[in-house]
Amino acid sequence: MKISINQAPQYEGEEVTIGCWLLQKRGSGKIQFLQLRDGTGFMQAVAVKAADEDLFAAAKGLNQETSMYVTGTIKADERSSFGYEMEVSGIEVIHEAEGYPITPKNHGPEFLMDNRHLWLRSRKQHAVMNIRNQIIRSTYNFFFENGYKKIDPPILTSSSPEGTTELFHTKYFEEDAFLSQSGQLYAEAAAMAHGKVFSFGPTFRAEKSKTRRHLIEFWMIEPEMAFYNHEDSLKVQEEYVEYLVTDVLEHCRLDLEALGRDTSVLEKIQAPFPRITYTDAIELLKEKGFDDIEWGEDFGAPHETEIANHFDLPVFIVNYPKEIKSFYMEENPEDPRTVLCADLIAPEGYGEVIGGSQRIHDYDTLKQKIVDNGLDLAAYEWYLDLRKYGSVPHSGFGLGLERTVAWLSGVQHVRETAPFPRLLNRLYP
Ligand code: 4AD
Ligand code: MG
Repeated sequence: MKISINQAPQYEGEEVTIGCWLLQKRGSGKIQFLQLRDGTGFMQAVAVKAADEDLFAAAKGLNQETSMYVTGTIKADERSSFGYEMEVSGIEVIHEAEGYPITPKNHGPEFLMDNRHLWLRSRKQHAVMNIRNQIIRSTYNFFFENGYKKIDPPILTSSSPEGTTELFHTKYFEEDAFLSQSGQLYAEAAAMAHGKVFSFGPTFRAEKSKTRRHLIEFWMIEPEMAFYNHEDSLKVQEEYVEYLVTDVLEHCRLDLEALGRDTSVLEKIQAPFPRITYTDAIELLKEKGFDDIEWGEDFGAPHETEIANHFDLPVFIVNYPKEIKSFYMEENPEDPRTVLCADLIAPEGYGEVIGGSQRIHDYDTLKQKIVDNGLDLAAYEWYLDLRKYGSVPHSGFGLGLERTVAWLSGVQHVRETAPFPRLLNRLYP
């Protein structure tokens, strides 16, 4: 019977065959332990010399990453977190790997990134991708369960919602085009047709940032809701994030364990999340001894980390100054220097995972903002149309997938959270 490793618990006591690779091996003169992986999981197989000398010799001679069919009996094994192991009765090598470059010793990040196509096979990288997959699945579940429709915005665009300095230019036949920075403007149009929508796709920022939080290409989940004010949107954000955390804790136990993630910090995450205004956050930073920031300036990573540490939970920083936020954000009636927006800052130094706001729905105000921001009115005519024909208050936000994966997995750098990350100076592999 051919099975996969994740099916092993159903076959306790039975002889089965698994198509797999050799992750690692260790052993003594009498017993050989093989760490098998098949994509669905990881399991230890054991060959004992006294039981079968030829088989023992074959197991001992296997190279790392050799592909094979391994046959044996599934046994319960309390010592492993997986709970099962295999007593080997046969090994059929498919392809013998030789000189696999990633050995159990430590390698530097550049070497590992050059070998990303192989590094993906490691226990930890496999765990990170599993967590990424869980977040993707939970995202669809959350929004579909709550009555949202998925709308796919274009990737080749003529607009620049998040400022013109970080655009990837390309030719669109005779015209100029940009790779999408955000699907938001299109999601807004879709919300006027469908009420509650979300987009989930790749976005691009030609940002010359080389930090542990920045990718050039990343995936963003962007919900947009007609008739929702900023407060309503914050509620969706905290419910969504709580939902993601709960699902990852429930379904990715072995992965979190393989990553050595301290889950106690995740277990206490429950909506509602604390909130602090930008203005109060500036005060807080000053009290904590930061004298390198003044009202009106944007926060850097150390500021965000300090604020998040203060709360030790995901925290919304609300109502930033207009000048440092995007043109489409609605003015805050209680403090017109600021806008109705929030960034959600993850704890433990993972930084901003969500940016969101209520959108300007008055035609004249929005038109003026487009002009003031030096944007080409002709390119935004369609966007302004949304304020011409039955305009309504609406709000939305964008959650960065890779930053969320980094945070929940506990990995230090977003380069480990995309299968093939695009980074400053890295387009290979
Ligand atoms: O704050 P941002 O730029 O917001 C928007 O793009 C809005 N249009 C979203 C909306 O309201 N629909 O980006 C949103 C999120 C950030 O909070 C962050 O998680 C992620 O996208 N992000 C990045 N992730 C990785 N690398 C980068 N260079 C990122 N830039 C933004
Ligand atoms: Mg932002």
